[in-house]
Amino acid sequence: MHGARVETNAVREVAAAAIIVGGRLLLAQRVAPPELAGMWELPGGKIEPGESPAQGLRRELREELGVDTVVGDRIGVDVPLPKGMVLRAYLVSLCDGTPTALEHSAVRWVTGPELAAADLVPNDRAWLAELMAVLRAE
Ligand code: C5P
Repeated sequence: MHGARVETNAVREVAAAAIIVGGRLLLAQRVAPPELAGMWELPGGKIEPGESPAQGLRRELREELGVDTVVGDRIGVDVPLPKGMVLRAYLVSLCDGTPTALEHSAVRWVTGPELAAADLVPNDRAWLAELMAVLRAE
């Protein structure tokens, strides 16, 4: 309206995947930044402009894990990130491929009790109760 620059009102989102198979949740071990390296997270990443959250999360999971997925419902709260970004978790189904740590140092499948004991990145702890509930219901 006031000039040529196109502004987007959309909040920039980081999407993370809760991939659950046979009562176990997939965790991925971060390599960076130094303060998070070695900690475990739900894999995912930044949604790019023009992508829907589902498209962006599918792309990230192909890049990070080498898998094809279907992105389902949101789970848990919005977690505020610096610079006005927001972190959201989605339930995700695996369609093809075996998750492989292409950009992480490792991946592993955890049960509810193993999740509770895992060294999760602080942001992802916000989803612990919901993730435990889904794992119990499996
Ligand atoms: O993975 P990436 O560095 O692109 O993630 C962008 C931001 O989202 C980082 O600040 C990262 O710590 C955060 N994040 C998170 N939990 C996840 C995925 C990303 O806190 N499961």
